[in-house]
Amino acid sequence: MATQNGELCKDELLHSQAHIWNHLFSFIKSMSLKCAIQLEIPDIINRHGSPMLLSELVEALGINKERTPFVYRLMRILVHSGFFVKQSVPTTHGGNNEVRGEEGYLLAPASLLLLKEEPLSVRPFLLAMLDPMLVDPWQQLSKWFQNDDVTPVHTTHEKMLWELASQEPNLNQFFNEGMASDARLVTSVVLEHCGAVFEGLYSIVDVGGGTGSVAQAIAKAFPNIMCISFDLPHVIHGLVGSKNLSYVGGDMFEAIPKAQAVLLKWILHDWSDEECMKILKQCREAIPSKENGGKLIIIDMIVKVHEGEDDLLETQLFFDMLMMTLVTGRERSEEEWAKLFLDAGFSSYKITPILGLRYLIEVYP
Ligand SMILES: C[S@@+](CC[C@H](N)C(=O)[O-])C[C@H]1O[C@@H](n2cnc3c(N)ncnc32)[C@H](O)[C@@H]1O
Repeated sequence: MATQNGELCKDELLHSQAHIWNHLFSFIKSMSLKCAIQLEIPDIINRHGSPMLLSELVEALGINKERTPFVYRLMRILVHSGFFVKQSVPTTHGGNNEVRGEEGYLLAPASLLLLKEEPLSVRPFLLAMLDPMLVDPWQQLSKWFQNDDVTPVHTTHEKMLWELASQEPNLNQFFNEGMASDARLVTSVVLEHCGAVFEGLYSIVDVGGGTGSVAQAIAKAFPNIMCISFDLPHVIHGLVGSKNLSYVGGDMFEAIPKAQAVLLKWILHDWSDEECMKILKQCREAIPSKENGGKLIIIDMIVKVHEGEDDLLETQLFFDMLMMTLVTGRERSEEEWAKLFLDAGFSSYKITPILGLRYLIEVYP
């Protein structure tokens, strides 16, 4: 690298190298986290109930003691990434019971959402997204740019994601569990902070509702709302409804069960604009006019610059790449959403920012 200023050149050279290395090895963050989760380290530390020494952690893991320095290194990067914190623990040593301070591990707040028994755990979503079936397509990304396959998933598995899930019971199960875990978290926030969006409704259909977590929660919170969870037949297979909840199998591109409101959580971002237009037209057919309370309730991202919070935008861009790799969809800005709604014949929309990176959007005929 030749510049007129030799010092600057050296700094730039080394800074660039460090920047590239940091990107190159970013996957180590997700793989270290996956490893800790598979070993159930957050659960073990949580059960311990007080700062856990490395030796105690190794013993609880039931692994060879010789692995201790490697567990230390795994924990060091996870402490650095903000999943665990260290706290000094007084320990006694030797015959004279000398007291020394040793460091023990505690959960950092984010790790509460990694616990197996936590009802709002994101563990199933993490394990689904990092399963080799969904990670392998990333290896094919450049090949996909050069061929005519619909998605990198298609380049890898020769099928679209939904078809693959219908034929691979394992994928179907871990994908649905991953989605259900997210649905539980989102529903808990929506029902607590924005339950008014459902008040007064007599019926709702959750389109692409997976195994029904959202519809179950709405049905329980609003016994007067008839709820339908609608998804592909292999997803709802064997599920049993209740007094005000039923499961319907079908294809949203062909017809959507009629209801006063249609819920679309994490659906439209899976599809291209042309495909969204077809789904939105089916949604219009399914609901009554605005005067009769017809509306769509969409839960999805709106890509925007979060001032001073660069990592929020980066997470949205990650999701956008995820949609490009797994399916035919994308994450959209408010202008792009507005165009979709108007092009599909809806008259207006209202955005409620209560879900962090995602938004609740009510759309009216
Ligand atoms: C990203 S998941 C979202 C699941 C759920 N709404 C949630 O957020 O937890 C997309 C869902 O759309 C469903 N889906 C895909 N194609 C569909 C179709 N043609 N008709 C109905 N559902 C479909 C999938 O089976 C899957 O459950």
